[in-house]
Amino acid sequence: MTNKATQLSESHHPRPQWRSRMGFIFAALGSAVGLGNIWRFSYLCYKNGGGAFLIPYGIALLVVGVPLMILELGLGHKMRGSTPMCFAKVDRHWEWAGWWSVNCAMFGIMVYYAVIIAWCLSYVFFSFNLSWGMDPNNFFFNEYLQVSAAPGLIGDVRTPIVSSLLGVWTLCWVIVFFGVQKGIEKANKIFMPLLFVLILILVFWSVSLKGASVGIKQYLTPDFSLLSKPQIWIDAFSQIFFTLSLGFGIMMTYASYLPRKVNIVKDALTISVGNCLFSFISGFAVFGVLGYMATTTGKPVSEVVKESIGLAFVTYPQAISLMPGFAKIFGVLFFSTLVIAGLSSAISLIEAFTSAIIDKFHYSRRVIVTAVCVTGFFGSMLFATNAGIYWIDIVDHFITHYGLVTIGILQCILVGWVLKSQKLREHINHSAQWTLSKLWDFCIRFLTPSALAILLINDIVKESAKPYGDYSWIAVILIGRDWLLVALVVSLFIAARSWRTDLQIEKKPQEEKV
Ligand code: PHE
Repeated sequence: MTNKATQLSESHHPRPQWRSRMGFIFAALGSAVGLGNIWRFSYLCYKNGGGAFLIPYGIALLVVGVPLMILELGLGHKMRGSTPMCFAKVDRHWEWAGWWSVNCAMFGIMVYYAVIIAWCLSYVFFSFNLSWGMDPNNFFFNEYLQVSAAPGLIGDVRTPIVSSLLGVWTLCWVIVFFGVQKGIEKANKIFMPLLFVLILILVFWSVSLKGASVGIKQYLTPDFSLLSKPQIWIDAFSQIFFTLSLGFGIMMTYASYLPRKVNIVKDALTISVGNCLFSFISGFAVFGVLGYMATTTGKPVSEVVKESIGLAFVTYPQAISLMPGFAKIFGVLFFSTLVIAGLSSAISLIEAFTSAIIDKFHYSRRVIVTAVCVTGFFGSMLFATNAGIYWIDIVDHFITHYGLVTIGILQCILVGWVLKSQKLREHINHSAQWTLSKLWDFCIRFLTPSALAILLINDIVKESAKPYGDYSWIAVILIGRDWLLVALVVSLFIAARSWRTDLQIEKKPQEEKV
């Protein structure tokens, strides 16, 4: 885009900007480092051959993670717009795909992500008096969630969850309300260093517990024979996608607030590698505690380890109850770490959607953020019902496995073939010292979309034989598939509306120049 074009659009609608590069890195890292880093990575690593999992994980980072991170940062920076705006500037016919990604972020992920943060917030308070008692499993499922028998039996909204939920949405509202510099950047400058300190305390505390080394050994002992199984590769690729917050248009939106002179490649590497290192380090805290628990109860680690939600809300509370000394403080620190990691990701989901609406319709940020958070809060209620945990599981699975991977492929086609990846590469190289080679074009045009397509086809084939998670077909289709379809229809509808920003004004001089 030419300077003239930038001035034309910005005189109507000034774009916010990060105060510093550090502020941007913190915000992007804040989005990437989330609940998934703490409980999902270490479990996947353990399940998929310990240290051997780092091989497919590293390959996924190189083949999909870094190339797409560069694409999202580069496109956001070049087009200086939210995701739908970036897509529309490349080709107006593709705008719907941009809306699809931000709609999935806001009304797919955020509405349930807020509920999980709310659970963590409740557990911060439960830690003060170890409310879960002797049977954390019963406490979580039957007392706190009061889970119904099937996804269709929605039941009532659970009041203890709603009160925490209100706290979570209010915090998110306040942060995003104050905008990019005074809200998001400021909050992340507090959250990220705090998160780093908290995780280090948890790691040191965990590894010093009796028997911690047993768990850590299990976490990292490599079993290379598993590398021949497709599942380990699928797990690695989908984890990279989710953990780096790719496909939601978040990184694109955040990069649109960067100044002209930046170093996209360096920033993309810092964010990607920083996020993965965080996951790896958190694994020591998780498995140190599991090792301690196995040793104390005399069971093998394989019996005490549980996946994601079970790990945080059942196994960890069990371990905390067994701990000597300041067990309650450990609980408060652990759940506060989850709350902070979750909040910094949540605000990025809201911002990606808010920024898109502001770009297209020019409403004031404060009005939009308020409307979005109020709607989001009521949307979250569905996931705070007796059947909420089933809905979370199904919606999460469909959005992350189908929605995001499809959007990732669409991004590659849009940039690789419609815009031509070479153009974006030249833009990225123009503004930085670290330059990209043609290898990146190859990734974006061929390698990354092929890897994602294999992932997608594999999932479709596997799940057309047997519904996901042993739910009924009706539940999976009505909740999972239709959630994606409704988001798609709404996206097509919004994309058909005309822009209050004159996209043409920005495009003409650019085309004249080309
Ligand atoms: N990256 C986050 C995690 O690992 C999840 C997330 C994805 C959050 C996309 C926001 C947006 O938990």
